[in-house]
Amino acid sequence: MDTKNSLITFGQKLEPIDVIATEPDWVQARPTWIERALNRALELPSGGWYVVGASRDIRNRPRRYRIDGREYVAWLSRGQPKVAPDACPHMAASLADGSVRNGHIVCPWHGLALEGERHGAWFPLPTFDDGVLVWVRLGSEDTATAQPVLPNRPVRYLDTVIRKDARCDPEDVIANRLDPWHGVHFHPHSFARLNVIEQTEDSITVRVVYRVFRRLGIEVDARFHCPEPRTIVMTIVAGEGTGSVVETHATPIDPGRTAIIEATLATSERPQFHVLIGTFGGLLRRLVGWRAQKLWAEDATYAERRYALRKGKA
Ligand code: FES
Ligand SMILES: [Fe+2]
Repeated sequence: MDTKNSLITFGQKLEPIDVIATEPDWVQARPTWIERALNRALELPSGGWYVVGASRDIRNRPRRYRIDGREYVAWLSRGQPKVAPDACPHMAASLADGSVRNGHIVCPWHGLALEGERHGAWFPLPTFDDGVLVWVRLGSEDTATAQPVLPNRPVRYLDTVIRKDARCDPEDVIANRLDPWHGVHFHPHSFARLNVIEQTEDSITVRVVYRVFRRLGIEVDARFHCPEPRTIVMTIVAGEGTGSVVETHATPIDPGRTAIIEATLATSERPQFHVLIGTFGGLLRRLVGWRAQKLWAEDATYAERRYALRKGKA
């Protein structure tokens, strides 16, 4: 059966488009454009900020994170996330193995209680909670900014955050998402039809049919761009869910290891949307998270192969 012609799409009808090219996707794909757009992204300032994880994961018990070759501990202190080196200033015990009491992180070895203040050489790092993700600022003060570069987000949304670790560097994750031409072939369960409708030096817009279930799909226009070197954002610019964003953040763990932390912020103009969130929010989050994990299970192999080729290991 010709699946393209048998597709059923629902939602707002989009204006007809001039398809830029009708060649097969592998001919349309522009590796040189991907590399150029990637290099432009890598030169953008980050202000020293790295995504740590989902805000809702940082609670009243310590959590260990490894970022750029070092261990950190995160916890919630009087409603504010804190991130600090995961080594007690007394005798270097792992604070992530301790507990949180009255906003203090308490060392498991001799009970030293630390809050948001410096203690000797130990001090919590600048931390920013954007409401969905927690960021930490690392590295040199010279280029540091007060806040991370945040993408535009919808006012009201249902948010889902997933994490997937991959054997690659952050740039391989960004490069994967700068290649829309692989979508229909590599993820046939999720994308049914895809055309590039606009391409600038640092953004690419596609008209894509996103498969909801088998032949049932939603057609939207989606734009990809990088606001900073370790983030690529997909924004729905026309069709169902306009204003929704998928932020893919690539946080280095160690050289050749990266945490892909992806936040989906779904929105809709439909009045039923808020009722739906209120009633089925938990279920929808699990569904969106499951689909995002499925895509990244595949895209991680793409990013890992790109990394291996760059490093001469393939
Ligand atoms: S190592 Fe933490 S209190 Fe001694
Ligand atoms: Fe992909």
